[in-house]
Amino acid sequence: MTLREMSEQRKQALAAEFELTSFPDALKHAQDVIVAQDDAVFRAQAHASNPPLIAAMRYAVRGGKGMRAFLVLESGRINGLTSARTGLSALAVEYMHAYSLIHDDLPCMDDDDMRRGCPTVHRKWNEHTAVLAGDALQPLAFDLLCDPCIGDARIGLKLVRGLARAAGHQGMVGGQMMDIAAETRDTPYSLDQIIAVQQGKTGALIKWSATAGAVIADAAEDEFNALDLYGEKLGLAFQIWDDVLDIEGDAQAMGKAVGKDAARGKATFVSHLGLDGAKRRARDLVTEASDALNIFGDKAETLRQAARFVISRDS
Ligand code: IPE
Ligand code: IPE
Ligand code: MG
Ligand code: MG
Ligand code: MG
Repeated sequence: MTLREMSEQRKQALAAEFELTSFPDALKHAQDVIVAQDDAVFRAQAHASNPPLIAAMRYAVRGGKGMRAFLVLESGRINGLTSARTGLSALAVEYMHAYSLIHDDLPCMDDDDMRRGCPTVHRKWNEHTAVLAGDALQPLAFDLLCDPCIGDARIGLKLVRGLARAAGHQGMVGGQMMDIAAETRDTPYSLDQIIAVQQGKTGALIKWSATAGAVIADAAEDEFNALDLYGEKLGLAFQIWDDVLDIEGDAQAMGKAVGKDAARGKATFVSHLGLDGAKRRARDLVTEASDALNIFGDKAETLRQAARFVISRDS
């Protein structure tokens, strides 16, 4: 194939992204973007190869649902952007998420042997490889956000600062710290405290993802705020469903252990609200998430479908 034909094919593929209006297709597309972009990143960095470290990093990035990448791509799509502009940011948040999962599974954290149907990184390699693979994925996420193909430096800075805050002590890591502390507390967390844990450990990265497309497109403030509210409601529904699945889910389908929260005596949305109450709350949040997107009209239908998926998924 000639270079001209290749670039024509790429143009057609990018144009086809605007036709992706069904959530399953768009999620599959997000998974394909993760794989393709990750291949490209590591092809470009081949000279720096350290085989076990890179194998562990890439292993940890594969096999997820790709929800965060989907949110970046879709928030970009409804703001008129293709994956040529949003693909690296979609991969960046999946790197950050993969690092959080590698560390979450370590013996000093949740001590899990299985993730996405495969041995966890410390099980497949060893603990130091797992710690370091997570450590290396995190700065790589920021590296990707500095790529000029995303936009001008002002946009890059917004993305980097936003992700730094979403991932750090005010966000994911802070939430993880509170979550681990829940295991040894004398008094279980109240519902409000559980919401605060969730806003950090799961909510912050989901919110960043749902707004990333608006940041890259330099969208108007009300469009950013609509996606921000959608991300907040969706993130909460997502974690409620994670807690529901920890009780009702099937380990085989989930590809990870279940029943861990109760075994560790953790207060969760389910322990506070009961299974039915937690599901009702999640359903209400999905309605609120969908309503938050009214200003986008029909364009946002795939994001609304995504919200419904979050509380019907079995993995
Ligand atoms: C699982 O996240 C961990 C939480 C933050 C609750 P996902 O359910 O998105 O996991 P993958 O990426 O699809 O494996
Ligand atoms: C994980 O939460 C959250 C992060 C990795 C930031 P959980 O510990 O509930 O996730 P699972 O159930 O192991 O996927
Ligand atoms: Mg955990
Ligand atoms: Mg865990
Ligand atoms: Mg869980």
